[in-house]
Amino acid sequence: MPVHDILTDLKDFQSLLLNWFKSNKRDLPWRNTYDPYHVWISEIMLQQTQMDRGVSYFLKWIDRFPAVEDVARAGEQEILKMWEGLGYYTRARNLHKCAKIISREHRGVVPCTVEELRQLPGIGPYTAAAISSVAANVTVAAIDANVIRIIVRLLDIDKPCRGKEVEKQINSMAERILPDGQARYWNQALMDFGGMICTSKNPECQLCSIRNYCLAFEMGTVTERPVVISKKKIKKKIRIALFIVADGKLAIRECEGKNNLWRGLWELPTSDIKKSQTPEEGCAEFMQQLLGDSEKGAQLLAKINHSYTTNKVELYPFFVELELVPPSLEATLKWCDSNTIKNYGF
Ligand code: ADE
Repeated sequence: MPVHDILTDLKDFQSLLLNWFKSNKRDLPWRNTYDPYHVWISEIMLQQTQMDRGVSYFLKWIDRFPAVEDVARAGEQEILKMWEGLGYYTRARNLHKCAKIISREHRGVVPCTVEELRQLPGIGPYTAAAISSVAANVTVAAIDANVIRIIVRLLDIDKPCRGKEVEKQINSMAERILPDGQARYWNQALMDFGGMICTSKNPECQLCSIRNYCLAFEMGTVTERPVVISKKKIKKKIRIALFIVADGKLAIRECEGKNNLWRGLWELPTSDIKKSQTPEEGCAEFMQQLLGDSEKGAQLLAKINHSYTTNKVELYPFFVELELVPPSLEATLKWCDSNTIKNYGF
């Protein structure tokens, strides 16, 4: 069957996607009321986060912070604790800053114009467009990786989407296909469609209701679109972490440093080791530095492979038991029991 032209049959194309959304939309908690505060939190949480995970953090968050003012009043430690495990912690720090500004300058009501939203820390063009369209049905295209992937496939664009020309082509198409007065549903239809049908891996072309408009489907190139340029280089690291228990308490320390991804969160005393060292040698060297003694009988607990952003870590946790808290470490490390440890985000 020949491919239909989207712009020629725009109304039909729009109806197909909006009808698909009506029948298949995800049941998401912020879709009950479209409260701008809920939409804002969901948008920040869903950046770089799987939907199921985002929803469970969202529900916990709204339960603890029912309104913007509750976020504004909380301490940074609690904000980070609530974000624990979601990653990309700058989102949480910015969200906290935003809440204080919204509380002070917008009487606690999340603004819904793109211009006002763009003034807030950490809110870029996509997030501003998503919040204003989803919360207030403002006519603006919200262009995220889902939308880019869908448009690239519809048009079978065979160039990487980072280039200026291709970006212009995608943005212009996204704006032209946006139906008047329907941005709330349209943008979310594209988000759900990209997450459920036009997925990056294993797209469900057999279930796709707009495949007659899809040039990549016609050409058999769907899985080759979008064209990706080589990813950022992965850094491999070997790291040890110490569970030091003394007098029934566990030693933790605060992650520090302006460029530390996890600043404000807490960790076990941890050190990267040299590629030439065995984990045991690295552990002995770190214990010498930290405790002034490498002979404390550290016990290797496991080998853990963990990846985050562009890092791939081979992590070796060791267990060390001491009779007493060493005086030199009393103040430099925090010594927690099973109760106090619950107050720290890791
Ligand atoms: N991803 C980001 N925001 C979303 C939303 N409102 N619905 C579905 N997926 C999303």
